[in-house]
Amino acid sequence: MADNKNLEDKVASPHETEDPAVSEQSTATAATTQVTQGTTGMLPAQHWLEAAEENNEVGNPGDDDADSAVEDTASSTASISSSIIDYRTINGRRYHSETSSNTQYWAANDERQNESLDIIHHLLTLSLGGKLFLAPLDKKTVGRVLDIGTGTGIWAIDFADENPQAEVIGTDISPIQPSWVPPNLKFEIEDFTQAWTFPPKSFDYVHMRYLYGSVPDWHALFREAYRVCRPGGWVESFEASPMIYSDDGTVGDTSALAEWGKFFLEGGKKLGRTFTPLDDDLQEKGMEEAGFVDMQVRKQKVPIGGWAADKKLREIGRFSQLSLDSDLEGYVLYMANLLLGWGRDEVTVYCAQFRREMRSGNYHPYYNQRVVWARKPDIS
Ligand SMILES: C[S@@+](CC[C@H](N)C(=O)[O-])C[C@H]1O[C@@H](n2cnc3c(N)ncnc32)[C@H](O)[C@@H]1O
Repeated sequence: MADNKNLEDKVASPHETEDPAVSEQSTATAATTQVTQGTTGMLPAQHWLEAAEENNEVGNPGDDDADSAVEDTASSTASISSSIIDYRTINGRRYHSETSSNTQYWAANDERQNESLDIIHHLLTLSLGGKLFLAPLDKKTVGRVLDIGTGTGIWAIDFADENPQAEVIGTDISPIQPSWVPPNLKFEIEDFTQAWTFPPKSFDYVHMRYLYGSVPDWHALFREAYRVCRPGGWVESFEASPMIYSDDGTVGDTSALAEWGKFFLEGGKKLGRTFTPLDDDLQEKGMEEAGFVDMQVRKQKVPIGGWAADKKLREIGRFSQLSLDSDLEGYVLYMANLLLGWGRDEVTVYCAQFRREMRSGNYHPYYNQRVVWARKPDIS
């Protein structure tokens, strides 16, 4: 079992830079084709086909079940205008409608993707020691709470359940939230890239999680959070990096695991919505520029798979593997299509190789995540 000493989490001072990520990975795994595609520096579909051939898996790419991912596009939420539920279907997966706003969102919004988001919620809560937030909220008095980009609303539902005195609002561009929710919670359709519709100083706490790849201007995002936050209120941002590393060289340069992050890094550049809020310290810079104070930062390495020596990290790793395993295609398909023009077949072959590596036990992958929270000054 691998040493996990580097996976300990820590609370860092606001401007402390992140541990240098693993810079050199030496092991080349399942790699035959070294030619990269276009200007992206990414490996072509042929590379993954050859990797599959080495594993005698052409035509039977692992136990991938992408076919089951084809979803009906008919799901709807009452009271939402039809343009918002006019979803797009790309390669058999359902995506947010672009007719309702100019927003391009990179992940599917169908049942399969939503299940994966709910597994991620469990994993993220575990990684915070069972907590839903790290800001020092006074649970007896916290009143109005806003969760932007709420997704399936699972965080907002749990928060509303745990804090029945709070009044919680979750916003998203996709109406994928359930209708049976705690009485102190409501969901609204709102595009967070536009001016928020809420009045100034109207929330005690603004929460945002996993918005990487969706935000064209992180400074503008935190300016809006500052505006709607009451003096003395808190903002909290929980983000991750899509790059997958290992500290022991097991995640080699040409592995499917190492390639994963490049889809998002390159795709984010193309979309104008970066996937590197961690590398660029955008959470810290955005909060500071907006005027928030008393900033705290927690940086963590999250294992993928049950390889860590520590029991808690092993459990976290199993859930991170499950969250990826449950819908690799729903995360990567849009980017692979956008960047490399890949269709479903190429994506299926690549994802099969990713699953093979992830499940083999021969790799010790992890990714980085970061929670940043800060307070609006009492007088502002
Ligand atoms: C990766 S999910 C995270 C969901 C949720 N915050 C969580 O942690 O479970 C990102 C969410 O942001 C939403 N989103 C993307 N762009 C948005 C925008 N411009 N305005 C509002 N929501 C947006 C997506 O629809 C998606 O539900």
